[in-house]
Amino acid sequence: MEIIRISDIKNYEGKEVEIKGWLYNKRSSGSIKFLIIRDGTGFIQATLIKNEVEKEIFEQIDNIEYESSIKIIGLVKKEKRVPLGYEIIVNNIEVINKAEENYPISLKEHGIGFLMDYRHLWLRSPRQNAILRIRAEIIKSIRDFLDQNGFILIDSPILTPAACEGTTTLFETDYFGEKAYLTQSGQLYNEASAMAFGKVYCFGPTFRAEKSKTRRHLMEFWMVEPEAAYVDLEENNKIQENMVTYMVKQVLENNKRELDLLERDLSKLEIIKVPFPRISYDEAIEILKKDGSKIEWGDDFGGEDETILSQKYEKPIFIHRYPIKCKAFYMKPDPQRPDVALCADLLAPEGYGEIIGGGQRIDDYNLLANQIKEHNLPRENYEWYLDLRRYGSVPHSGFGLGIERTVAWICGLDHVRETIPFPRMLNKIYP
Ligand code: 4AD
Ligand code: MG
Repeated sequence: MEIIRISDIKNYEGKEVEIKGWLYNKRSSGSIKFLIIRDGTGFIQATLIKNEVEKEIFEQIDNIEYESSIKIIGLVKKEKRVPLGYEIIVNNIEVINKAEENYPISLKEHGIGFLMDYRHLWLRSPRQNAILRIRAEIIKSIRDFLDQNGFILIDSPILTPAACEGTTTLFETDYFGEKAYLTQSGQLYNEASAMAFGKVYCFGPTFRAEKSKTRRHLMEFWMVEPEAAYVDLEENNKIQENMVTYMVKQVLENNKRELDLLERDLSKLEIIKVPFPRISYDEAIEILKKDGSKIEWGDDFGGEDETILSQKYEKPIFIHRYPIKCKAFYMKPDPQRPDVALCADLLAPEGYGEIIGGGQRIDDYNLLANQIKEHNLPRENYEWYLDLRRYGSVPHSGFGLGIERTVAWICGLDHVRETIPFPRMLNKIYP
């Protein structure tokens, strides 16, 4: 007899199989008992029929609590009335671990605060399973796209001596008596790697001590950051729109079941195809003002502004050429108009807002040295970064896509907290 996973059930109709999992739910109606067993790949109805299974087994079930780990053996049968399309007619059960009584998460509705405190158990629910499977597919499809397009994975360090995205959001730690910080972005090291390999990407956790309690902010989030030599702003945007289009296509192809479970409107994803609209910061300011926003030229967008802009389009939109003064020190000024940067953010539609930040980097030594000074950054920590402009500098660009915001958009969630297994939020690090 084969030990199988629920996701493979359709290959076993009419066969006797064993499934190793957990008891998710149960109900009984006299001579028949229905168990719902989950094994991580799916949920299956396991049916016990009174006179067809040993009495002991039939009765034992009444004493098994939710989330007990159990093995079931039985016959796979087609069953139109259950979501999976198959059920298993049980002839034997083995209990591996009897769960304690009062499993904290019942099938009734719980408040979000409660569920967050039990995140380690909440992960077992069908909804969380669907979201995190989509997350895995998003990561896989992005990595596949980059690998197939000549980018090579080169990791950036997590512990760093200096800031990448401004000094106000650094998590500081003690590095044998010296100050060190958890990285905000792998970009600066990525630039070194791009000069060595041409096209690279890093993918890892990044950290921001942002005192923001919004639906878009985490303290620890994952970012995929491609960086390429001899690539300008427009080419950088093209890489992004192709990558995002590919990602959406893969999720639609491979996660139909999960998207349905989340009741995601698929038509909103099916239209995500290149090209994406390109809107200048100047135009965006005009749009926002017409909409009644108090924003002035030179201000960075607030969450509300992003929501407004990204509700106006069905596709993700690039907002390009932000004022130099609201962006990071490494952004290259537009030679045609030095008060704006050769940069672009990609805003996801339906009000989701920024999922990518990117652009062209300063490649001139003097200009970069000057920017480091202007931003009051300690130059000694950036000497290695300046070396990249001393030795064979070239125009180059890159971007960073935040995985959690992307998952929130693709899944249609109203908050990033469910998009990562264990979210790190303002003043909350348990579990
Ligand atoms: O726009 P950001 O700050 O850009 C950078 O860090 C660049 N150095 C990336 C690069 O060019 N290599 O961040 C990039 C993306 C954002 O668009 C957003 O998706 C995500 O990272 N992000 C966050 N996600 C969750 N919580 C936060 N606190 C985030 N901060 C940024
Ligand atoms: Mg940004």
